[in-house]
Amino acid sequence: MARSRTAPGQIDLVTRYREVRGLSEALAAPLSDADATVQSMPDASPAKWHLAHVSWFFECFVLRDHVPGYAPFDPHYAYLFNSYYEAEGPRHARPMRGMLTRPTLEEIRAYRAHVDRALAAALPMLMPDAQALVLLGLHHEQQHQELMLTDVQHLLSLNPLEPALYDAPNALPAPLPGPLHWIEGRQGLVEIGDDGKSDFAFDCETPRHKTVLHPHALAHRPITNGEWIAFIEDGGYADAALWLSDGWAWVQAERIEAPLYWRRGDQGWTRFGLDGRKPVNPAAPVSHVSLYEADAYARWAGARLPTEAEWESAALNVAPTSGNQLDGSACPRPRAADGGSALTQMYGDVWEWTGSAYRPHPGFRAAEGAVGEYNGKFMSGQFVLKGGSCATPRGHMRPSYRNFFYPHQRWQFTGLRLAKDL
Ligand code: AVJ
Ligand code: FE
Repeated sequence: MARSRTAPGQIDLVTRYREVRGLSEALAAPLSDADATVQSMPDASPAKWHLAHVSWFFECFVLRDHVPGYAPFDPHYAYLFNSYYEAEGPRHARPMRGMLTRPTLEEIRAYRAHVDRALAAALPMLMPDAQALVLLGLHHEQQHQELMLTDVQHLLSLNPLEPALYDAPNALPAPLPGPLHWIEGRQGLVEIGDDGKSDFAFDCETPRHKTVLHPHALAHRPITNGEWIAFIEDGGYADAALWLSDGWAWVQAERIEAPLYWRRGDQGWTRFGLDGRKPVNPAAPVSHVSLYEADAYARWAGARLPTEAEWESAALNVAPTSGNQLDGSACPRPRAADGGSALTQMYGDVWEWTGSAYRPHPGFRAAEGAVGEYNGKFMSGQFVLKGGSCATPRGHMRPSYRNFFYPHQRWQFTGLRLAKDL
């Protein structure tokens, strides 16, 4: 599991609990029971399931284990809302999460309220180890807030009416950002991994450890939609020489010709987002590309993807709360930045694919017990993404944060920043 290094009481857990739980409710507020029940693909979960699963997490790992006399809201819910914890027993099959027309959304809201009442009453009495689990539960819920948004976006994209969840004007024509500037990175021995300066980190960010960086530079900003269109127009999706073999097989099998949600029309490219179908904004960072696409683009551009260590070392002087991240009011969508030649958009807008495998840091040890299944068992076949997106709750990011997805997945807000060897 994760570790909290702040002594109990130093963080106002009660306030943080209320804020995080409240944001989930606010994000789900515009959804009908039907919107919140349907599952658009096995990778995505219904919003109702997200809302319930994060509550089960508190119920199971905090209330059941640390609050004597706690009565579960419904003993069947563990079967429905356990995601993947083998130690917690059998569970409803992931691809069938959309079959749960019952419990209703109203019942799930009542479930949340039940858990909230019990946790609020128990919080002041919890021992430090249980408080650490509450903190883990809050960071867990933030992860699911982002997933809930990207999953709803995917669901609505399959409706021919392409409904918008948020009203948002078309992006004002923004000046195209200038050419990439290359910013030389540190080289030699550096330290990466959790530095102990934030009050929380997931276990997979630990331990801090040394690694070697070779002479390299990072692009000062992510690749834009405008640049991606140039890649398309240059035949990037049709040139096998640019692609990893697995990527080329994927492009052909899935007939991939553009980022997810893009469509070519008479007026040029459009894309679907939480604000409905809108013209592609050439100045905004490209989003919804897979690792395969990001890697092919980098090869086409004569560059490569950064390593996790290069990205993390470069991010050390950037505020993790900066950039276009989820605030709970504006429509989450990647936006054009103001330009400039310093390192920009490291946080927010789009998750940046790295070329690094999601594997344990040297010395990594997963926690004891069921929460030890949280991250470690997924360290196979996935790549690390850094920096958070427009759908990542502000306050959730750190330089050492490791998101991870399989190389073909692209329904998250995923983009790229180039790197090159010097
Ligand atoms: C880090 C986003 C890949 O989706 O399984 C949610 C987040 N972990 N519940 C995932 C997570 C446990 C995780 N990702
Ligand atoms: Fe989860």
